[in-house]
Amino acid sequence: MAKPKKHVFVCTQSRPPGHPRGSCGGNGSMAVFQEFLQQFEKRGLWGRYAVTGSGCIGPCGNGPSVLVYPEGVMYGAVSKEDVAAIIDEHLLGDKPVERLKVPAEVWG
Ligand code: FES
Repeated sequence: MAKPKKHVFVCTQSRPPGHPRGSCGGNGSMAVFQEFLQQFEKRGLWGRYAVTGSGCIGPCGNGPSVLVYPEGVMYGAVSKEDVAAIIDEHLLGDKPVERLKVPAEVWG
């Protein structure tokens, strides 16, 4: 397998309703993950880029969380409608989508 130019991790962690940390799964991250899969297929991105569903990657309260490597850019509150922008601007255009980045306070 060739090393992907960029690798997208979409948190699909779920927790029981009422859990104090909440979860990306409970905030609709599965739809975001599915949208990435569909767009990767439609645009023929597999091989050059990768997308993986993951467990918790940290800022649960700002989910759905999406993490893009090698830059280590964390996006928060990502919706299905935001997926095209992440692909166009960050993956293909090499410019992270500023409006979707988690607030600096998340990193304490
Ligand atoms: S549950 Fe998604 S970041 Fe924690």
